[in-house]
Amino acid sequence: MRPQPDFIHEFVPGKSERTLLLLHGTGGNERDLIPFGKELDPNASLLSPRGKVLENGMPRFFRRLAEGVFDLEDLRKRTNELADFVVSAAEHYKIDIKHIIAVGYSNGANIAASMLLLRPEALAAAILFRAMVPLVPETQPNLAAKCVWIGAGSDDPIVPALETKQLSELLRAAGADVTIRFFQSGHELTSDDVDLAREWLTHLQY
Ligand code: MLT
Repeated sequence: MRPQPDFIHEFVPGKSERTLLLLHGTGGNERDLIPFGKELDPNASLLSPRGKVLENGMPRFFRRLAEGVFDLEDLRKRTNELADFVVSAAEHYKIDIKHIIAVGYSNGANIAASMLLLRPEALAAAILFRAMVPLVPETQPNLAAKCVWIGAGSDDPIVPALETKQLSELLRAAGADVTIRFFQSGHELTSDDVDLAREWLTHLQY
């Protein structure tokens, strides 16, 4: 039986105990980030779901009302659904949930941040490229053992620098160990993002 609740997804078994949960941006799919995941950690398993929401035919992980304005009810529902998928996929593929690290870009980074805030037990750590504040939880989670790396673009037209700082403050207030790196770029990723995230991942202890 496939993991329930199911998502269209790719699973690539790896050689180490680590799994990267790859979360694509708006308009992406489950195949997009596989080469990127291999570049970040060639030994990790890769679990890469496709977002279930369609916006003008483009897959996303949750609904938005406008750019940067999120449907919070849908976001909460989709965050729980994705966390349930991760838990059941871990059982299905016999991977250790304590070694699952989210790697999200844009909309994928936003749902990864939402998972940290609402369902922190489903992730050991997270790499968030161009993330926003997805929501402010009613109850503060305990993120004491969680490490988070945030890669932001200094000229990102979608994510202002202030929002990156607000996200890091929200995560730090809950106890997370947050590293922020700003790159001279917009919303798009640069090779420096990849290099620094890879280096962080290599030394990550959790
Ligand atoms: C979002 O909707 O998650 C953000 O606006 C980023 C995007 O996907 O454009």
